[in-house]
Amino acid sequence: MSESQYLGKLRLGVNIDHIATIRNARGGEHPDPVAGAYEAIRAGADGITAHLREDRRHITDDDMERLQQLCLAENIPLNFEMAAVRDMVEIAKRIKPHAVCLVPERREERTTEGGLDVAGLHNTITPLIRELTENGARVSLFIEADETQIRAAASSGAPVIEIHTGAYAHALDEGDQRKADKILAAMKNGASLAHSLGLEVHAGHGITFDNVSDIAAIPEVVELNIGHFIIGEAIFMGLDKAMTEMRRCMDDARGVE
Ligand code: PXP
Repeated sequence: MSESQYLGKLRLGVNIDHIATIRNARGGEHPDPVAGAYEAIRAGADGITAHLREDRRHITDDDMERLQQLCLAENIPLNFEMAAVRDMVEIAKRIKPHAVCLVPERREERTTEGGLDVAGLHNTITPLIRELTENGARVSLFIEADETQIRAAASSGAPVIEIHTGAYAHALDEGDQRKADKILAAMKNGASLAHSLGLEVHAGHGITFDNVSDIAAIPEVVELNIGHFIIGEAIFMGLDKAMTEMRRCMDDARGVE
């Protein structure tokens, strides 16, 4: 019996972008991220996440179409990550995923580097959120655990936020425990505020076996989206084992037996 307080089971969304990164290193069709998504579902993923970047560096439009077909057939939610731009909104409206997560995107970045400035972009983002919502998508906003951003998210009409955990993961990687503790405290306060404002709270970015526990133990968080680390570990231990171990860490943190 775990000593953690029982907080309920978290959903695990698996981001399969980097299967496409490996495929695209050589062109061709192998390894297929849709086959990876199928394996992740078999291994217990509660959802599949994929980011259609503007430069199409990993996931392609065709992958997104096929992922949606798979997720519909398997009755699993597809979480379509995208920049808050017109082209992407049109693609999402065509593909009709269960969820759309709006993220900031800069072409020169290696990965998503920070949260979306929902407060600054409120007037442009709010109509896009309405349009996506009317088209049946549950919209989430990938933001920092910052009060201004959370309040802006709550007034934007989006039902969900995803808290950016990347800076926390980075601080721990750098051995900066003080900084990590400060970010963790902000994430806890942010999750609590968001929940009190009626938002569903997810978290993601840079999550590993070593840093997942304190994130998973934030009571208001109901879903984690994890990609790079799980796909990387899958090379050594297989996707099934990597996901089982991540699930075990998450369940331990939530007091789930
Ligand atoms: N959540 C969001 C919104 C992201 O942009 C990403 C990266 O694409 C992830 C979660 C997954 O991050 P990681 O690959 O570092 O686990």
